[in-house]
Amino acid sequence: MSQHLRAKITALGTYVPPRVLTNHDFEKMVDTSDEWILTRTGIRERHVVDKGVGTSDLAAEAAKCALAERGIGAGEIEALLVATVTPDMLFPSTACLVQHKLGAKGTWGFDLSAACSAFVYALQAGAQFIISGAHKKVMVIGSDVMSSILDYTDRSTCILFGDGAGAVILEPSEDGNGIIDFEHEIDGSGACSLYMPGGGSLHPSTHETVERKMHFVHQDGQAVFKYAVRKMGEVCETLLSRNGMTAGDIDCFIPHQANQRIIKATADRLGLKPEKVIINIDRYGNTTAGTIPLAMQTAREEGRLKKGDLVLLASVGAGFTVGAALLRWTL
Ligand code: ACO
Repeated sequence: MSQHLRAKITALGTYVPPRVLTNHDFEKMVDTSDEWILTRTGIRERHVVDKGVGTSDLAAEAAKCALAERGIGAGEIEALLVATVTPDMLFPSTACLVQHKLGAKGTWGFDLSAACSAFVYALQAGAQFIISGAHKKVMVIGSDVMSSILDYTDRSTCILFGDGAGAVILEPSEDGNGIIDFEHEIDGSGACSLYMPGGGSLHPSTHETVERKMHFVHQDGQAVFKYAVRKMGEVCETLLSRNGMTAGDIDCFIPHQANQRIIKATADRLGLKPEKVIINIDRYGNTTAGTIPLAMQTAREEGRLKKGDLVLLASVGAGFTVGAALLRWTL
């Protein structure tokens, strides 16, 4: 990647819907307990949309916050990337719906599907438009309404996820700050460990696909857990070593929020002190493409992310998809 021109984050906006589902709410819905959920996952509560609210609505709200922070209108955004696994519909893309909601005339864009790694992948895709000189302002949004694809009678999956969105604006950086490097990998041998089988071209929607609950998240939790623990540390080590760095150089580690135990195992493996590790899964659950920008916002709010900090992002998700990015924080 060019050392001269980089992409930097110049604004961050986030949004979660107001309605909250606590672990105690789940005690009334399935055979579970606050204690089980908290100790196995770190989650206390998550936000969920009301009926009629889609991924593009959350994305547009997050985007408006980012635009306000940057002090620009939507018309200045040249490209708009929406990372999501829960698009409002298969087509048109959520990016088109967000573009219209924002009134971002003249922009182009598309959706990017990489489940929990989608935000770091979209960040990198957006950065390439900046580095190539094709665009000067790119918006990258991670947004998911996981509640739309959860089986609220399946205690092993429904307690894990929440709804939420985050948006960043990317612009050129001439001073060497911004996104430094990335390391991404996909491994489709894990496709059967976490997936939603129905509604695509292989199993189009029928009465049978509905009866067989094929439009919900299906997961082998332990397989995903083991893969995530192994790969999240591995990808971070590869990225750090390629850049001649160690975990000691990192000021702020912002991981995908799937399970507090996955995050802590990764931090321990890397030797990161707890104060450098951002965890907000207790408040939001796993919002899939939303977790990393939401955690960036938490880090800012808690005063744990300052201009000039060296930041490490990391994610593992369905696919499998694996991602890590190294950046110098510029807000
Ligand atoms: N409440 C109470 N008991 C439960 C619940 C629940 N909500 N869910 C499962 N159990 C039970 C199981 O039925 C099982 O009972 P059994 O022993 O009688 O069969 C027992 O708890 C243990 O189940 P495990 O699946 O072994 O529990 P584990 O410790 O692995 O935790 C969990 C399950 C939390 C899903 C974990 O495997 C996990 O977090 N995996 C990662 C999955 C993930 O985060 N996916 C998100 C997307 S991918 C990503 O972002 C990395």
